[in-house]
Amino acid sequence: MRIDVVTIFPEYLAPLRAALLGKAIEREKISVGVHDLRDWTHDVHRAVDDSPYGGGPGMVMKPDVWGEALDEVCGSGPQPPRLIVPTPAGRPFTQRTAVRWSAEPWLVFACGRYEGIDQRVVDEAASRMPVEEVSIGDYVLVGGEVATLTMVEAVARLLPGVLGNPASAEQDSFSDGLLEGPSYTRPEVWRERPVPDVLRSGNHAAIARWRRDRALDRTYRRRPDLLERLPAEALDKKDRAR
Ligand code: ADE
Repeated sequence: MRIDVVTIFPEYLAPLRAALLGKAIEREKISVGVHDLRDWTHDVHRAVDDSPYGGGPGMVMKPDVWGEALDEVCGSGPQPPRLIVPTPAGRPFTQRTAVRWSAEPWLVFACGRYEGIDQRVVDEAASRMPVEEVSIGDYVLVGGEVATLTMVEAVARLLPGVLGNPASAEQDSFSDGLLEGPSYTRPEVWRERPVPDVLRSGNHAAIARWRRDRALDRTYRRRPDLLERLPAEALDKKDRAR
């Protein structure tokens, strides 16, 4: 998968080359390009924003600079990419979004400041390529950079050969619509707290049932909204008995 990011803070994207993502780049599972939006300015001040039409606080990012940047970055492949615009005003980014994007050959992230990019940039791009405005949560960041890091990590770990153990992606919270329950490792007793007996029983059916129950309990307490959205067939008889 190819990933390009356009931003006024290229240094903010340095973690893309660290840890898991760095390994994925080394192994050629993903290739990453980070581009400084100011490279497409033409004035001495290298201005990327201007005051909003209609008044109000904050600044809006200029369409001419973004237009040239996206023409060049998105026009550099045989097929146009999927263009992602992180914004608190976007549709929610979820695990489902990450799974869907992980099948794409090429993603381009356009990081704007939170007041936004002139809407015509997004509308015009959408006439030439798939475009999604997405939010990573109901809070406001300074710009799209950290949201991009979050989304790239969520997508990259789903790509074949990126995670050491592919089964860990399959057991994720959300992959069955529930939160994951608690995990334990050695020692058997730590600060007078024993590991639950069932996990040391060797009874695989009992362990699976216990894990399922802990996932249901946790989801019920922490994210009742997820249980409400679960399709009826996702719960078996024993689940419902709880
Ligand atoms: N930019 C600022 N806040 C954001 C958010 N919550 N999600 C995505 N992009 C953003």
